[in-house]
Amino acid sequence: MSAVTAAHPPSGAVALSGVGKTYVTDSGTSVEAVAPTDLSIAPGEFVCVVGPSGCGKSTVMDMVAGFLAPTAGRITVDGRPVTGPGAERGVVFQQPNLLPWLTVRANVELGPRLRGVPAAVRRARAEHFLALVGLEQFADRKPYELSGGMQQRCQIARVLTNDPEIILMDEPFGALDALTRERMQNELLAIWREGRKTVLFITHDVDEAVFLGTRVLVMSARPGRVVLDLPVQLGGGWAGAELRSLPQFVQLRDRVGAAITAAHDAPPATPAP
Ligand SMILES: Nc1ncnc2c1ncn2[C@@H]1O[C@H](COP(=O)(O)OP(=O)(O)O)[C@@H](O)[C@H]1O
Ligand SMILES: [Mg+2]
Repeated sequence: MSAVTAAHPPSGAVALSGVGKTYVTDSGTSVEAVAPTDLSIAPGEFVCVVGPSGCGKSTVMDMVAGFLAPTAGRITVDGRPVTGPGAERGVVFQQPNLLPWLTVRANVELGPRLRGVPAAVRRARAEHFLALVGLEQFADRKPYELSGGMQQRCQIARVLTNDPEIILMDEPFGALDALTRERMQNELLAIWREGRKTVLFITHDVDEAVFLGTRVLVMSARPGRVVLDLPVQLGGGWAGAELRSLPQFVQLRDRVGAAITAAHDAPPATPAP
């Protein structure tokens, strides 16, 4: 383990107990997005959540991130109740939300700078993670000089530089072309193997979920419930293309795909408003 990813006891456990969310729209209609859900994520797990569009995936992530309050149940991180966003949870959004007037390096250093981390320390951390995502040559550029994939890598470097225990990612590669997406998946796995952070990764791509996750959760159509909770143990050491052609991989992918189709076709538990 490198000097900038300091060793600490395993942390990053996430627990949802009876967590649900019902939105009330401007017109006063209630929309149950997430049915009461129990979920326990251990430190270092890479949990992928898949499900049909509108099933409440982003709602779950936003509640764990602390952007949204559940309307039922409670969420804890390492036993502490989540009452809002926190530095121990880093969030990667689908669109890179970099500050356009700052350089790539300054964007990546922003979190530690705001927390008063000394310049030399935050600079070293930023350099480390910029190199990890292959952007060391672009540190002095502005975000608009980078491609979409590079901006997304920059956003990931920024989140890692904050050294969160938990990384929350909501369809982070959704806007990327297929080739860049595959490269980013490989990079993310390499980063996860190095740091063993807890990752909660939302995607609607079954292949991506089975490829990345140590565990795949399938959510039903709205109101979202976990209808399949599948451990993924394919063994390490496979390159992307090899892994994807393993019979076990194909089997898991088919199983998750079938669960999504079933979830999609099932009538909603409560009628839509
Ligand atoms: N602010 C809101 N007000 C009312 N309904 C919402 C709001 N945000 C999301 N929803 C509804 O909640 C459901 C789940 O949304 P979301 O979590 O974004 O789903 P997903 O990320 O799986 O596509 C959808 O039916 C969506 O229309
Ligand atoms: Mg979403």
